[in-house]
Amino acid sequence: MTTPEARVPVHLGPRSYDVVIGAGTLGALPVVISSALSGTPRRAILACDDGLPTETSATAERSLAAAGITALRFGLEASEEHKSLDQLAQLLAFLAAHRIERTEPLIALGGGIVGDLAGFAAATYRRGIPFIQCPTTLLSMVDASVGGKTGVNLPGPGKSLLKNMVGAFHQPRAVVIDVRALDSLPERSFRAGLAECVKHAMIGAECDDLSLGDWTANHLAAILIRDPATLTSLIARNVRIKATIVERDEREEQDQGGRALLNLGHTFAHAIETLPTLSPDANPGHAPLQHGEAVALGLLAAAATSEAAGHATSPQIAQTAALISTCGLPSRVAGLPPSTELLARMAHDKKVQGGKLRLILPVAPGRAAVFAGVPEPAITAGWDAIRA
Ligand SMILES: NC(=O)c1ccc[n+]([C@@H]2O[C@H](COP(=O)([O-])OP(=O)(O)OC[C@H]3O[C@@H](n4cnc5c(N)ncnc54)[C@H](O)[C@@H]3O)[C@@H](O)[C@H]2O)c1
Repeated sequence: MTTPEARVPVHLGPRSYDVVIGAGTLGALPVVISSALSGTPRRAILACDDGLPTETSATAERSLAAAGITALRFGLEASEEHKSLDQLAQLLAFLAAHRIERTEPLIALGGGIVGDLAGFAAATYRRGIPFIQCPTTLLSMVDASVGGKTGVNLPGPGKSLLKNMVGAFHQPRAVVIDVRALDSLPERSFRAGLAECVKHAMIGAECDDLSLGDWTANHLAAILIRDPATLTSLIARNVRIKATIVERDEREEQDQGGRALLNLGHTFAHAIETLPTLSPDANPGHAPLQHGEAVALGLLAAAATSEAAGHATSPQIAQTAALISTCGLPSRVAGLPPSTELLARMAHDKKVQGGKLRLILPVAPGRAAVFAGVPEPAITAGWDAIRA
């Protein structure tokens, strides 16, 4: 069965682009590239996640070759340790060795790590070359591939990493989402990607999509068996939310209502996702949490904080909790450190401005707002709500 394609435009003036979503869209990669670049390039660099099944990268290579585009493949290791200046330097050296010109596109095929790193290379090589995103995880399809944030991690104290500490805004010229690439994605990663969909549902009304949460809950069975048509609709609705917010605040400069809303749940998530012993299901073998699992817990902690601070109501929180657990995501976690330690970890987050922690909290169905100076007891109540 062929699935109808969806196309979501991202309106950013001269940096506008389309997100094309469907089953088999990698086969149309050259058509999308030629239209986005107003011409067919002779060559393209394919920065490819080495963890992908050969079939996915072969599909992209075959479609480029059939259109007469020579694909120069560069394999990337998709781990946070390798989302590094070293791997970036290797990719830049590869571009230079092949004398890539300013008109020749760099295509990222992989999850958010490959997209962020390859995007940063595209932003900086010769001060910028065209960039095409082909995301292959649910998280990168609904979130990371749209909006133009690129970057790598820096080494931090000890063995820690300073995540996304260097980077650039560099919008892609097109995003090509082939839902067939999700066939090989492990179940746990797929469910982790759904956490960002729950986040989008919690801010849907800010983008004129109040029914996304209900729609997701009603279609969850088809989503979990990865039905291509349902995935196409799910991804299109989520991309539309991300695009709407990015269109309002491309470089995250607004205090209220802008890109900061996309950090809902993330300040809590960042405080726990690097703790090595936390597990989503009490099985120590499943530690640490994946980013999406930490986001699911962070969304619930933010909701409980909001209730304790008098901004959200219990039915609203119950609805979020129900959606998170039907997605198969954790709603409680064992072994959380004491709240004082968690508060200290939150204070290190990038969202601290002028020494004040800024939190995004849900305030009504589909709505959230930015708060500075949330009382500590309310934040503690948020953490306590997700303790197993
Ligand atoms: N730029 C942004 O706006 C933005 C937004 C959110 C997250 N991010 C970044 O995204 C990164 C996380 O990305 P992610 O969750 O997409 O995953 P990832 O890139 O970390 O990949 C996770 C694993 O999945 C494998 N994989 C990818 N696609 C696969 C497929 N189709 N089949 C089988 N295996 C596959 C990879 O090889 C890797 O082992 C983080 O570094 C985060 O900082 C960026």
